[in-house]
Amino acid sequence: MKASIAVLPGDGIGPEVISKAVEVLSKVAGKYGHEFKFTEAPMGGNAIDSTGQALPDATLKLCEQSDAILLGAVGGPQWDGPTATVRPEHGLLKLRKHFDLFANLRPVKAYPALAQHTPLRADLLEGVDMLFIRELTGGIYFGPRAEQGDSDSAYDTEVYSVPEVERVAHVAFRAAQGRGKKLASIDKFNILASSRLWRRAVVRVHEDYPEVELEHILVDACTMHLLVRPASFDVIVASNMFGDILTDEASVLAGSLGMLPSASLGSGAFGLYEPIHGTAPDIAGQGKANPTGTILSTAMLLRYTLGLENEAQAVEQAVEKVLADGARTADIAPRGGSYISTDEFAGAILAQI
Ligand code: IPM
Ligand code: MG
Repeated sequence: MKASIAVLPGDGIGPEVISKAVEVLSKVAGKYGHEFKFTEAPMGGNAIDSTGQALPDATLKLCEQSDAILLGAVGGPQWDGPTATVRPEHGLLKLRKHFDLFANLRPVKAYPALAQHTPLRADLLEGVDMLFIRELTGGIYFGPRAEQGDSDSAYDTEVYSVPEVERVAHVAFRAAQGRGKKLASIDKFNILASSRLWRRAVVRVHEDYPEVELEHILVDACTMHLLVRPASFDVIVASNMFGDILTDEASVLAGSLGMLPSASLGSGAFGLYEPIHGTAPDIAGQGKANPTGTILSTAMLLRYTLGLENEAQAVEQAVEKVLADGARTADIAPRGGSYISTDEFAGAILAQI
């Protein structure tokens, strides 16, 4: 199979983890007889520095001509001034919106090899395997806002329409159908009008999937349930902001924020693949970044955009094997224990494919 992949390394540790992901995809291509063409382009803070825009027109054009986007992470303190008018994050939001990538899939698995590493009791982590579906093109990220210079008030607005909620609910119910047949829908029904609409739309869509067991959980309660009964979750659907917050929390179950991959999908095969972590400026350039989230994102690219399930599993199994064999990057090393560099860790994964 032939595929063109737009590669947007971004800022901070983005380029370090992306180069490893590209090596993994190249290895898969060689081994299984595929032809993947990678084209790099600026996006985020580096793009602001070189072009004045977070998402330059040429980068957007490249993405339009590609089958998928592989992205590192964007942002950093040098672009964070309170009066900054162009922000690296705007480039990412623009990409998600432009391609209407409304469903953000974020799988969270607890690896037995890392159970002792998390701050939670190992017995709580047994069997933890959940899939978050985060709505990605609506809600408070895109609602009307006012932020005027140094005025003493500002606002952001959470807005959802029934069709917007229904389409992401369909993705979530279908995912649940193919897994453990359980869906938890997260909202703040007791306070927010937008959450009452969310719940009404999810209940409506549930009629089409009677075999899936649906549970509604208030977002504040969910933060606690994720820690006390993580193994009871199967698929979780949440708004843009609730999904953003809950998945950082859930990453603790997997051992580190550096472990989690994501796929942002629309109605077709095109997708944007990125780890859920940020640019980690504090460790950038030191060989300490964990490339797992980005490498697992390539498995999602193989699965969802290219339909290459065997290849996707080969990458996932390689990651599991390397973790089971005891290889650790700094973030998942036991306290005071030894760890290997980003390059060495990715090298071990490559050797398993
Ligand atoms: C994420 C990130 C982004 C988000 C930022 C970088 C805009 O936190 O993908 O989870 O908030 O969506
Ligand atoms: Mg986030």
